[in-house]
Amino acid sequence: MGFTTTFVIAIFVMMLGTLAYQGMSRTLVDEQASINDLHEQWMKQYGRTYADDAEKERRSQIFKQNMGFVEKFNSEGNRTYKLGYNEFSDLTTQEFLTYYTGYEKPAHYSKSSGIKSFRYENFTDAPTSMDWKDKGAVTPIKNQLQCACCWAFSAVAAVEGITQIKTGKLLSLSEQQLVDCVMDNQGCRGGFMDTAFEYIQENQGISSEENYDYEAMDGTCDTMRSRNPAARITGYEDVPTNNEEALRMAVSAQPVSVAISVGEEFRMYRTGIFSGGCGQTLNHAVTLIGYGESEDGNKYWLVKNSWGETWGEYGYMKLLRESGDAEGVCGIASKASYPTLSTA
Ligand SMILES: *[C@@H]1O[C@H](CO)[C@@H](O)[C@H](O)[C@H]1NC(C)=O
Ligand SMILES: *[C@@H]1O[C@H](CO)[C@@H](O)[C@H](O)[C@H]1NC(C)=O
Repeated sequence: MGFTTTFVIAIFVMMLGTLAYQGMSRTLVDEQASINDLHEQWMKQYGRTYADDAEKERRSQIFKQNMGFVEKFNSEGNRTYKLGYNEFSDLTTQEFLTYYTGYEKPAHYSKSSGIKSFRYENFTDAPTSMDWKDKGAVTPIKNQLQCACCWAFSAVAAVEGITQIKTGKLLSLSEQQLVDCVMDNQGCRGGFMDTAFEYIQENQGISSEENYDYEAMDGTCDTMRSRNPAARITGYEDVPTNNEEALRMAVSAQPVSVAISVGEEFRMYRTGIFSGGCGQTLNHAVTLIGYGESEDGNKYWLVKNSWGETWGEYGYMKLLRESGDAEGVCGIASKASYPTLSTA
């Protein structure tokens, strides 16, 4: 048997274990049929349908490639994290990144306009671990679907956090309002968290998710609904760049919006402490909602993503912290900011 054949059989046998699929013949003749079966099973699990047989065949091939990547990676067994299947397993990485990311700094954004004080600069007493979920400051995992507005989900999660911390009320807030109304950003074609914070401040608030619900597409700013705020902020600040200790001080005080560079492994992340493969450039935005340290001494960030609950650890990721690289793993310390709320 050639390497490819052996390899495909190895993958296939592992898939049997992974998906606990029963009653399939393991002969070579059945191999493609079996991959088709696994794809069908996956389609059922995630409620996927295709327009026609040609599209189904094309998706089945992509599914097979992704399956190969996941099984090869996991079989090497020498990382602190595992990859897996999720609702995106029939997309190519390029398709996935186009639809599901969307971090983009506006060309005209000048750093000087954003220079403000860093209110946590003299913090020294941050606890060794923090999880804002346990403190009731994190809403359930959301899904941006095929709209590249990660920036809106990242900013909203940070605003939801500071709102709960300052007022005691956890409210789900509106990403769609930001997609429709932040004119400095590109809606479903990309955007930036600081301009979203600026908008929320100038608009004197942001609506609830319930009032201005998510549609995963660009729309016209609804002035009635956008002027019915459920939460407000009084400003925002940037965390000093490439300083994970400063970032930890900020996250100890509130959830923080961050840019990150993601690629193939990131999108297939299932569990454990992720330490890269990253992308080429800052292309996605998420929210840091805590940090901690594993029993074997690996420090990590707790990341809230906007890719639904089938991705990662029920929608969350542990990302290696203090890797020794100033930018942090996948550039996590490159561009961090948080909304402020003075309740004087
Ligand atoms: C894990 O093993 C693979 C295959 O042996 C190797 O290519 C890769 O560099 C290893 N990775 C690490 C982080 O050790
Ligand atoms: C931090 O401490 C320095 C020195 O005491 C002080 O000048 C600065 O204003 C403090 N920063 C903040 C944000 O409180």
